[in-house]
Amino acid sequence: MSYQLVGNHPAIQKIRELIGLVSDTALSVLLLGETGTGKEVVARLLHACSPRRDKRLIKVNCGALPLSLLESELFGYEKGAFTRADKFKPGKFELASEGVIFLDQIGDMPLLLQAKLLEVLQSGEFARLGGTEVVKVNAWVIASTNHNLEQDIKEGRFREDLYYRLNVIKVELPPLRDRKEDIPLLTDYFVEKYRNEFASGNHFQLGMPIRELFSAYHWPGNVRELSSTIIRLMMGDEPEEVRAELVGNMIADRVSLPEVVTVAEEERNIGEQAKRAVTSLKAVKLNAARDIEKKAIVNALDLARWNKKVAAKILKISYKSLFNKMHSHGISIKRSS
Ligand SMILES: Nc1ncnc2c1ncn2[C@@H]1O[C@H](COP(=O)(O)OP(=O)(O)OP(=O)(O)O)[C@@H](O)[C@H]1O
Ligand SMILES: [Mg+2]
Repeated sequence: MSYQLVGNHPAIQKIRELIGLVSDTALSVLLLGETGTGKEVVARLLHACSPRRDKRLIKVNCGALPLSLLESELFGYEKGAFTRADKFKPGKFELASEGVIFLDQIGDMPLLLQAKLLEVLQSGEFARLGGTEVVKVNAWVIASTNHNLEQDIKEGRFREDLYYRLNVIKVELPPLRDRKEDIPLLTDYFVEKYRNEFASGNHFQLGMPIRELFSAYHWPGNVRELSSTIIRLMMGDEPEEVRAELVGNMIADRVSLPEVVTVAEEERNIGEQAKRAVTSLKAVKLNAARDIEKKAIVNALDLARWNKKVAAKILKISYKSLFNKMHSHGISIKRSS
């Protein structure tokens, strides 16, 4: 699979240059940026441009596993290290030997393991769980996260010393909304890329209105969201539907709407939202009223020791009406006297 970092924004150009410079060095790289901004693309390009390209890039999702499993995943274990360790298993650090270990979602790594990782990186060696043999670390460490690590450090969720150890080379991927000039370029890139994958691909055209909306949209899911929106359109989703969804997201996130979204459309959308809000308010009132009524009936029945005639009198309704209401609220006759 080939990876490409598409974009002409100065920040992206700088990252491309940096990839060229860093890939020879094996200095630790920390990739930062919101979800979908291209951190994994950069990690894979670093690997592909480096002399390590013929060795493996091993990715570990540090947020997906609980502490003990993640520890054995990273460092491996000897047979008998714990109950289910029926055979030796090498860790990802070993599998990435001479290659790259990509510590994805490092911001989600449990604190205890952060301490061990730091120790391993500093000493350059470790032992498998349940073992004594010393294994050398010679994988190139590239870490990535969409967290604000400095904030996490302040709040005690990330170790400052590990941050400095990983952050030798920092690469910050800007959100797509901060490099809007790249949107048309990325759009054309994805249309071309997926052309052969969908039946409609060869004749697929994106109209100007949707392209203009793409350029104005705030892309909270960044390049990944742009790519999946294009896939949806190429698979045959109605452009009108996609348009309405994007406009709806912009209204929900209070992003100013572009002129292409006409006033009429804006009003229609707000009108629909308002209608929904009123309907749901009515539903809230109705549910609350029903809850209160049910409580009053149960209280009256308790007071009357579940004698329905007496309870109906307390509630000042007819016996038949109480019977019907009990039925509609699903109150079963616990006791009758
Ligand atoms: N500059 C780019 N050029 C081409 N494709 C890109 C670019 N940036 C991202 N993509 C594509 O967008 C998708 C998301 O990118 P990627 O997986 O690298 O995001 P990420 O930053 O690792 O996100 P997360 O924090 O959610 O893991 C991928 O399919 C990737 O190929
Ligand atoms: Mg990623």
